[in-house]
This record gives sequence, structure tokens and C-alpha cells, in this order.
Amino acid sequence: MTSIELPDPESDGSTSVEQAIAIRESRRSFARTPIDIDDVAQLLWAAQGRTHVRDGVELRAAPSAGTTYPLTIFLEVAPNGSEELEPGVYRYEQQRHALERDLETAVHDDLTAASLDQAVIADAPMTIVVTADYDRTQRQYPDHGERYVHMEAGHVAENVHLVCEARGLNTCPVGAFTDTAVATALSLPARLEALYLLPVGHRPAQ
Ligand SMILES: Cc1cc2nc3c(=O)[nH]c(=O)nc-3n(C[C@H](O)[C@H](O)[C@H](O)COP(=O)(O)O)c2cc1C
Repeated sequence: MTSIELPDPESDGSTSVEQAIAIRESRRSFARTPIDIDDVAQLLWAAQGRTHVRDGVELRAAPSAGTTYPLTIFLEVAPNGSEELEPGVYRYEQQRHALERDLETAVHDDLTAASLDQAVIADAPMTIVVTADYDRTQRQYPDHGERYVHMEAGHVAENVHLVCEARGLNTCPVGAFTDTAVATALSLPARLEALYLLPVGHRPAQ
């Protein structure tokens, strides 16, 4: 399996959180230009990257009920989606801030079909896929665990969305897809369920 170390994420930027919130909207069109590895690194870090240690517990960029951390982030790269990453499916190793190339074949058409042929997936050079292992959280919270996992996926999606706005990238949260078809397209392990698709691309020229 190929492992790709990602550039360190930036801890500062020129767009304030307030500005990013004020301009945020779902943006469904993309330029046909590849995404830089620096952008990939920043977006994946915003999704689930390591931040700091508190009371001996390593924290991530998005909160997690009881620090159970049920989410795993994948990156689907379309043909010509990146100059540094071959088309296929990568898993974000948050501990090492690295990508593991899980699938070495392009699955872009399958992911598009699984997403009800939405153009927002078809046209995106990359799609971040938020998946969850419900059991991790439900073991600790039998009553509310499922709800917590969904809340966490929302936290991740908003982090990614705001970083996109701050970096001039387009994204749109996508929840309309066939669960089993996404799982098959990405060859997800049985314990993981796909919850959210976040296609990302550069803004088209006006
Ligand atoms: C849970 C969820 C699922 C969504 N699924 C889709 C989708 O499958 N396709 C799509 O084009 N937009 C999808 N959207 C985007 C909404 O249509 C969009 O957020 C809404 O129109 C409000 O617009 P705004 O995001 O620009 O504020 C989804 C949004 C959410 C929160």
C-alpha cells in the first residue's frame, strides 16, 4: 500500500472565521484544474487532523462525543484531479497526517453513479468522504451514540466547508447517495458507513 506524507497544515490564514461564515454557500461548479496537495492537506487536517493534547488525550480538529472518534475520512481523486495524487481512493491517516492509497483504480464514475449521477460529484476533481464506525460511539453511548456520530459528521463537513471558503475553493455538502453503492465504489470495510460526500474544486473563471 502506498503511503503519502502530507505537507504540514497552516495554523493561520488571511480569511477570518467570521468572513468565511458570511460568504459560505453551497457551490456546485468546478474549474477543470487539479487541486494542490497543500489544499488537500489543509482540508483533511480540518476534517480530522491532530491539534493538541489535553489532559493526556490527543484532540482532533472536530469535536467527538467522549473522544470516541468514530469517523474515518477518505479522499476520492478523479482522473486529472491532482498533479501529485494518482486517481483512486485514499484513506486519511490522521495520526501521521498522511494518505494511504487504498484503491489504485479510478472509481470516479462509480462514485458519481452512487451519488445519483449528481453533476456536483461528476465534475469535482476530488471528493472527501466522511465515514463512520457507529460501534465506537454506541458502545459508550448506547442511547445517543447514533445521533452523536451524525453530529460529528456535521462538524467535519462545516470545518471543510469553511476552509474551502477561506482558500477560494468550491464545495457542496452531498447527502443524497445510495449507501451500499458508495461503500462498494470505495471498497469500504464492513464496519464503516459513508455519511457525507464533500466534493471540492477550484472556482470556475467568471
Ligand atoms: C445534510 C445535507 C445534505 C445535502 N445534500 C445535498 C445533495 O445531495 N446535493 C446537493 O446538491 N446539495 C445538497 N445539500 C446542500 C443544500 O442543498 C444547501 O445547503 C441548501 O440549499 C442551502 O444552501 P447553502 O448551503 O448555499 O446555504 C445538502 C445539505 C445538507 C446540510
